Amino acid sequence: MSVSIRSYAKINIGLRIGPRRADGFHDLRTMYTTIALHDRVTVDADIGRSGIEIRCSDPKVPCDSTNTCYKAAELVLKALDLRARVTITIEKSLPVQGGLGAASGNAVATIFALEKALGKSVTASPRVEIAATVGSDLNLFLYGGLTLGTGRGEEVWPLPDLLSIPMVIVTPEVGVSTPAAFKAWDTLTHPGGSATISEFNHLVYEWLSASGVPALSGDRAETLLLDLVRTGISNDFERVVFPEIPVLREVKCALEREGAAYASLSGSGSTLYGLFGSVETAAAAAERLNAAGMKAIATRTLPREEYWREMFQ
Ligand code: C5P
Repeated sequence: MSVSIRSYAKINIGLRIGPRRADGFHDLRTMYTTIALHDRVTVDADIGRSGIEIRCSDPKVPCDSTNTCYKAAELVLKALDLRARVTITIEKSLPVQGGLGAASGNAVATIFALEKALGKSVTASPRVEIAATVGSDLNLFLYGGLTLGTGRGEEVWPLPDLLSIPMVIVTPEVGVSTPAAFKAWDTLTHPGGSATISEFNHLVYEWLSASGVPALSGDRAETLLLDLVRTGISNDFERVVFPEIPVLREVKCALEREGAAYASLSGSGSTLYGLFGSVETAAAAAERLNAAGMKAIATRTLPREEYWREMFQ
């Protein structure tokens, strides 16, 4: 059976990095939200045969066992104790290694589509384990919408959902290696130890206490995400990535000049995004940025309910 699904992207709204842990990872805090841009992942499964094949026409995507989708499929088959020939076709629209979590989203899309293709489900708990084994930012895609990420990013706390916010993304064609960015972070002096994490905890606490439980209706619903970014939440990766690749700071400034209420690097980049007050202002900003030679796309944040409703379309 063949199952085709949308594999959405995410952005990070704020990201704070703590000291390197004994296992080599870094403790972090971040807020993730899914966005309305997606790749497409199609999974074909033939029970009783064996082998996993990845097909993707983008040369930047590895088609061997290092692909996140390969790893996810292998772990699902193991958890179900099944033999099957699995073919995974990835149609890319999202940037590779762009800080939008595309490879992570592709892997979670593989888990969902493979379960459907096999007509069998691993239960929620092993699914969480599989996602965390493949990488640190897969688990957010098991929920979609607005989530809080802790631990190394794999501990995910779904928050009550917010209304969709218009946004613009720009992904400059420069490579940013996430492990290298974490290493660069370690070379900075951190007099306050994990002060950046404590500050994040406090900002989120302030936001939650001021907004009450975020709700999908009422006068304040539209501004809740903007209330969050107004707390001063920021991405620590900007401190190491901007000095290394100055064009990224320039794009952030361009988004702010174009009227973004908040602009930031997503993950370790290279994608920058800006949140806008209306669909019209986001579209106009994207048009002007494109005219200035930046590849800008107007899109919006994707609430959880829509994430699930649209996924199998
Ligand atoms: O888990 P993921 O594959 O996304 O991580 C890629 C690399 O980024 C890890 O091998 C590690 O070097 C680094 N990393 C980290 N701390 C995290 C997440 C990732 O140091 N919280």
